[in-house]
Amino acid sequence: MDATLRIAARSVCTWLCLVAAWLSAAAAWADGPAIDPFLAASRTAEASAVRLAALPSVDSGASDGVQLTSAENYAAAYPSAALTTPLSTPIAVPTGAPVAYHYDAPTSGWGYELLPDGLIYRSYLAGPRESRMALHTFHNESVRNEALWEATLGGRRGIIRYGNGDAANPVGWQIDIEGAAQVRLNLDEARDVDASDFRFGVPFTYTAGDGVAYKFGYYHVSSHLGDEFILRNGNTRINYVRDAIVAGVSYQLNPCWRVYGETAFAFFTAGGAQPWEFQIGAEYARPGPTGFAGTPFFATNAHLREETDFGGDWTVQTGWLWRGVTGSTFRLGLHYMNGKSTNYQFFNQFEEQLGFGIWYNSTVLRLLTIESTCDETAAAVVTDGLETLGAVVASQTDLHERFGGVVPEIASRAHVERILPVVDEALRQAGLTLADLDAIAVANRPGLVGSLLVGVAAAKALCVATGLPLIAVNHLQAHVYACKIASGEEVFPCVGLIVSGGHTNLYRCDGPTDFTPLGGTIDDAAGEAFDKVGAMLGLPFPGGPAVSKAAAQGDRNAIRFPRPLLDDSGRLAFSFSGLKTAVRYRIESPDAERDTPLSEAERNDIAAGFEEAVVDCLVGKSELALRQAGFDTLCVGGGVAANGRLRERLGESAEKHGYRLYIPPMSLCTDNAVMGAIAVERFRAGKFESLDLDVHPGLERIG
Ligand code: KG4
Ligand code: ZN
Repeated sequence: MDATLRIAARSVCTWLCLVAAWLSAAAAWADGPAIDPFLAASRTAEASAVRLAALPSVDSGASDGVQLTSAENYAAAYPSAALTTPLSTPIAVPTGAPVAYHYDAPTSGWGYELLPDGLIYRSYLAGPRESRMALHTFHNESVRNEALWEATLGGRRGIIRYGNGDAANPVGWQIDIEGAAQVRLNLDEARDVDASDFRFGVPFTYTAGDGVAYKFGYYHVSSHLGDEFILRNGNTRINYVRDAIVAGVSYQLNPCWRVYGETAFAFFTAGGAQPWEFQIGAEYARPGPTGFAGTPFFATNAHLREETDFGGDWTVQTGWLWRGVTGSTFRLGLHYMNGKSTNYQFFNQFEEQLGFGIWYNSTVLRLLTIESTCDETAAAVVTDGLETLGAVVASQTDLHERFGGVVPEIASRAHVERILPVVDEALRQAGLTLADLDAIAVANRPGLVGSLLVGVAAAKALCVATGLPLIAVNHLQAHVYACKIASGEEVFPCVGLIVSGGHTNLYRCDGPTDFTPLGGTIDDAAGEAFDKVGAMLGLPFPGGPAVSKAAAQGDRNAIRFPRPLLDDSGRLAFSFSGLKTAVRYRIESPDAERDTPLSEAERNDIAAGFEEAVVDCLVGKSELALRQAGFDTLCVGGGVAANGRLRERLGESAEKHGYRLYIPPMSLCTDNAVMGAIAVERFRAGKFESLDLDVHPGLERIG
């Protein structure tokens, strides 16, 4: 090959490797767990295994546990129940039988995932050639008495996965890219670069979730030796290249121990590289949260290469590991290597390294949230990154419609029928089982007593069955938190305005677990007034959306209804009962019997005038609350936040007064379980409940 061409090819190759290394390092940095998800795979399974094993055995008569529910018997028993999403296959709760550390892959919920979290075949902790971030400093007495620094900058990132969508217990196949640049600096030679290696690879990995994982792939290594030093001294720069096909297998012996072996054959070698190389290794760490004390970890690797006549290098890393409740780990450790040099990997040269390393990675926390405060049965699976993995809302509107309002007894009976299928479906959407969860959260206040009891009882039962911790959710605070979930932005501190069927309250929210009531309605809630006015106008249930629709056709200036308490500028309070009465008198005068029914135009004008009055009060008092609290953020939640005119007017107000306004999309304004992700904050703060958690029914009245 022509010399210029060769140099050009080599530069392109080097740059490609560098770019790959930087890209994967950046991806890994942004993503946390991708670099080296230290024993993440066994974390959740082990934690559940411990918890489940601690439970007394219950003989269910079925080998695979208690069938909570099934699509068939549910449909047969409750043919009229309306679910917004189809039912799933049954979930089985293990009943004290020994739970294997590995993961039973769900048969449903599989799919393709771009840039999946985590790796199916994890990097070798002590592998000298893995693409990761590391810094070692060591003294090399074997060659010359010199101090060396070796820096590896790189990472490995999943590109596409076909699997169960579970980051902590992946099942399926995945293609990764990996890349790293490894530079050896020689301090004694005025920080000269002794060598610079570049590695790029495309591993194809697979696991069935039984603890065994396989890797096949391609990698390219190029090694430029003695770069600055050799060149400066008039020598020729040495360039080695290896393009190899690799096959590896890794086995998780138990939750603590993993062993692996790998072989590679190079189909292209240059500069003196030889085709064959082998690696074997073992790693140990206790899974589960370690607390402040931490836990020891140990990893070892042997690497044999043909160019050094199968002389090998042997690496040992050991140190201390801290793993938090969410599974994030931080490691400090010693690094020792003895054998054929890692960087001069194509030379038959011996060296000894003693170094020091720091590693950090984070993993995902998953919560099941249950919501049954009023007439929606809802469940969701959410992560601590506020990602929604599954969400189901079974509405009961059809059951209450003919009564013109929610009938508590009907609501609680319907919750009983729906709660388990709804939980089941949320888990199915997430592709998870109960054993994959880290906690169960339930709204226990405020609401209808019977409705609350169903959700709380279900959550407690699931906690007993799984040993998972229980978290209580305040439904109203969750409505505010929906703003954070929807926007993906930090909304605290803020003023929270909750406008629902039962509540119209203002809160000072210093943080997600720090709410102070500022004021609220002294009689009816805004949604309640909408519903009652809707009924008076002969509109369908629920009145809110119907009144809002009629109002859009009417003239909002045709009739001016009172704005109770709006002029009372010192008071953060609402009153809608008088407004409701005013609407009533407008429809039927108390003096004269009205003999002609309302025309459609009259009806629309009344709806528009009423809506405008309510919106005026809500906007005016929100502005006052912001002024009093001294905050510049307003978060709105509750069913009435779905009202178009309220959104429009708040938008104008925010622009005029320069505050940030957050109103979630409709699906997160009305009752749902996704907003129960506020439980993540309580999880982090360690706020768990005992199994005698009670319900707090009724309305939160702070007027
Ligand atoms: O928060 P939510 O779903 O349930 C409760 O916790 O109360 O709120 C339901 C309330 C109902 O009163 C309903 O009429 C009202 O929200 N609502 C509306 C609109 N959509 C729902 N009110 C006014 N305009 C709407 N577009
Ligand atoms: Zn609500």
